[in-house]
Amino acid sequence: MRITAKDSSKALTSTPLLAVLAAEGEAPALPRGVKLPAAAEKDFSGKARSDRMADATAGPAERVLLLGIGKEPGAEELRRAAARAVKAAKKLGLSSLRIQCTAAAAKAWGGASAAGQALAEGAGMGAYVYTGGKSKPKKSALKQCVLAGPDAKFRAGVRDGAALAEANVFARDLQNMAGNQMTPRDLAAAARKLSTRSPRISCRVMDEAAMKKMKMGLLLGVSRGSVEPARLIHLVYRPKGKAKRKVALVGKGLTFDAGGISLKPSAKMDEMRYDMSGSAAVLGAFHALAKLDVPVEVHGVVPTSENLADGMATKPGDIHTAMDGTTVEILNTDAEGRLILGDALCYVRKRIKPDTAIDLATLTGAVVVGLGHEISGMYTTTDNLRDRLTAAGETTGEAVWPLPLLDAHKRNLRGGPADLRNINVPNIGGGSIAGAQFLHHFIGDEIEWSHLDIAGTAWGAESRDYVGGRGGTGVGTRLLMQYLKSL
Ligand code: BES
Ligand code: ZN
Ligand code: ZN
Repeated sequence: MRITAKDSSKALTSTPLLAVLAAEGEAPALPRGVKLPAAAEKDFSGKARSDRMADATAGPAERVLLLGIGKEPGAEELRRAAARAVKAAKKLGLSSLRIQCTAAAAKAWGGASAAGQALAEGAGMGAYVYTGGKSKPKKSALKQCVLAGPDAKFRAGVRDGAALAEANVFARDLQNMAGNQMTPRDLAAAARKLSTRSPRISCRVMDEAAMKKMKMGLLLGVSRGSVEPARLIHLVYRPKGKAKRKVALVGKGLTFDAGGISLKPSAKMDEMRYDMSGSAAVLGAFHALAKLDVPVEVHGVVPTSENLADGMATKPGDIHTAMDGTTVEILNTDAEGRLILGDALCYVRKRIKPDTAIDLATLTGAVVVGLGHEISGMYTTTDNLRDRLTAAGETTGEAVWPLPLLDAHKRNLRGGPADLRNINVPNIGGGSIAGAQFLHHFIGDEIEWSHLDIAGTAWGAESRDYVGGRGGTGVGTRLLMQYLKSL
């Protein structure tokens, strides 16, 4: 489906479906000539997510969908409404639709640029269905979504929103692919392909021999139990002018996490194909960076591996040595994300030396218990980064919530035969915090850093019309782009 922007002041050309958003208590602003049956307008309250479809009685639109966006609607209501319009058009088998936004509405809904962006994001994300597993995927009849709005700002917003939606669904495709269709080598190929989309993006992929040279014993220790070789992906985006800052984005790329010798239970084990969602968020951000300029140098680092249990696999109690020389006792082979990220963070600290590093990982079941599926756990070493990410979460609808990084939790990882253990001693709780503390050891204190535990939000979220319900959510991509834009 193509998303295009049009000038809403021009006369409406014929369309099979016209979608008109209206806030609660306001009459829907129908374009000149469009008439609806009296009952349709009477039924419609504008309450959030209460919509009314009607056949037009006059004018160039065959049907009109009135979309309720509630009192004082923000970007999230616009995203949701645009997604419902697109879904309604699909359900009817239509080939196109038009979503209407007047100048007054754009102003009331956060400004023309923000309204255009939110509508395009919602339309683009709402149109997504994963078909990668089918031999003959059903083709959608819907080819075009026209977003009609007031001015050049609106149209620029639409362009950005469409690029962000494409990046989100790109990330969701990576997530949704089956474990055997998206292996570490496949993920590396996807990253390489991204670098061909823009001359500003370059990509280097390191194999296990290169990891051995760099002494990445933790990453190699996870990969030992699998026939599929691990990879370390390093993407770079260089901005047009002089870079204001250098930021590293790091994503956990476990293309399948069976737990290793500390094997997971079989129920829902298939969901562990989503254990590369952190890497999908990072690759998604680079997908967007090919289209949208930011004034920062961005590095994307993805350690990617499977976590299986063959005869070579790491055993509980084994000790491996990280790139920075830290020895780690692997008490539970299922706490593998922090291991591959540990070496990746050493690589970031030693080779990239960014001003800021942000990692995203489906790291712990504990964060799902604590925060559920709608909010990601956020750890930060500075208040500045906490505030920026919180603001980015509010703008994008990808909420984050701060969790503590206190010395009180640090000592729980010490005390075994090695420098560190990879888990807390059992039954003391704070599982998500333990994961964050483990990672903190490897990035150190010199680089501003945040860890986002996205185990709850990467999939399994409730449906928000444009995302959620079944399948991956692509969480993180839009959040990271919003953060980069804020710098
Ligand atoms: N990938 C899992 C975390 C996970 C669990 C994500 C459930 C999404 C849903 C991670 O590698 C893991 O297994 N973590 C363990 C850590 C424990 C052994 C300390 C966990 O959370 O159970
Ligand atoms: Zn695990
Ligand atoms: Zn995992």
